[in-house]
Amino acid sequence: MKTLNVELGERRYPIYIGANLLEQGDLLTRHIKSKQVVIVTNETIAPLYLEKVLTHLSAYQIESVILPDGEQFKTLDSLNLIFDQLLAKKFSRNATLIALGGGVIGDMGGFAAACYQRGITFIQIPTTLLAQVDSSVGGKTGVNHPLGKNMIGAFYQPQAVIADVDVLDTLDDRQLAAGLAEVIKYGLIRNRAFFVWLEENIDALLARDKSALTYAIEQSCIMKAQVVAEDEHEGGVRATLNLGHTFGHAIETGMGYGSYLHGEAVAIGTCLAADLSQRKGFLNAGDVARIIKLFERANLPVKSPTELRSEQFIELMAVDKKNVDGAIRVILLEAIGKATLPMSVDHLSLTQTLQTYGR
Ligand code: NAD
Ligand code: GLY
Repeated sequence: MKTLNVELGERRYPIYIGANLLEQGDLLTRHIKSKQVVIVTNETIAPLYLEKVLTHLSAYQIESVILPDGEQFKTLDSLNLIFDQLLAKKFSRNATLIALGGGVIGDMGGFAAACYQRGITFIQIPTTLLAQVDSSVGGKTGVNHPLGKNMIGAFYQPQAVIADVDVLDTLDDRQLAAGLAEVIKYGLIRNRAFFVWLEENIDALLARDKSALTYAIEQSCIMKAQVVAEDEHEGGVRATLNLGHTFGHAIETGMGYGSYLHGEAVAIGTCLAADLSQRKGFLNAGDVARIIKLFERANLPVKSPTELRSEQFIELMAVDKKNVDGAIRVILLEAIGKATLPMSVDHLSLTQTLQTYGR
């Protein structure tokens, strides 16, 4: 097992990464400071892993909240189901909430923990590749709004993240590929050598080679932890983690939550950002081709859905947390391995990119 730390002073917390971690109850119980524990999970993950986690918690008053599965349920209504149960069972302010699941459960569980009685202890047990490399680390929590993705939320850090690579065995291939989109992102925004490693090892990752997967998770978490420690509330460098996301969120919202997986939308969005980076004179055509090729090899989509016309796409991009005073701002790439901070983009270049990359 490897332990990394997110260095946030008094709120510093560990990320445990390795095999068989769900069997090691102590990793979990050492972070629980009270009797009352609520596990938030969903109907797909519960039959696979809930019992395994509960085995270690016989000494606690446990409540399990099993939510419906899917991005379309990342809503305030689902959040209320958590609050209903906590209040009905008289959970107090010193209770602990464990989010057992992918990014949807992690984001909602974290937001519920942030809101319930103004904040209770929170632990992340991410069960998708995407959640292990990205969403469980860094404290961004929240839900979607029909008009915009992740628009309602809070920064709220967990006490610990337990990333057991063995749980990825039950993840389907499409979800694994979606997680790789965020892994590729790290190489693109800050580590060219890692991008090259991914080019060399993408087949091993898709074949679920455990040592390759563990390495990719560790490297991703190292980078995420560095960025979060430097800029927890996204005043600067943290925005680079949103490469491809302004486009991606527009696709998720415009096509209906759950229609494109988050990682798939990010893959398309990153290809669009690469094209725009070339139009701005940063990347050359060879770089863009190389980026698109890696996403294609990872079995990820690279073209924007034709159903979304450029004007509608741009309207959707106007609802984004990086925008300032109504101007659309995106992260671009200066080179493979180096992202820009958010940059305003003109309507014409954006339209040209969207038209070039419409399927
Ligand atoms: P997800 O949570 O919907 O999980 C994907 C699917 O896999 C679901 O059907 C889930 O039930 C299933 N699943 C989860 N673990 C499994 C396992 N071990 N075996 C079998 N099936 C399993 O999707 P995701 O890709 O994990 O997360 C996407 C969400 O994360 C989006 O809402 C996105 O906005 C959010 N996100 C947040 C951050 C952040 O910093 N907070 C970063 C990136 C993404
Ligand atoms: N996934 C974006 C962030 O954590 O900032």
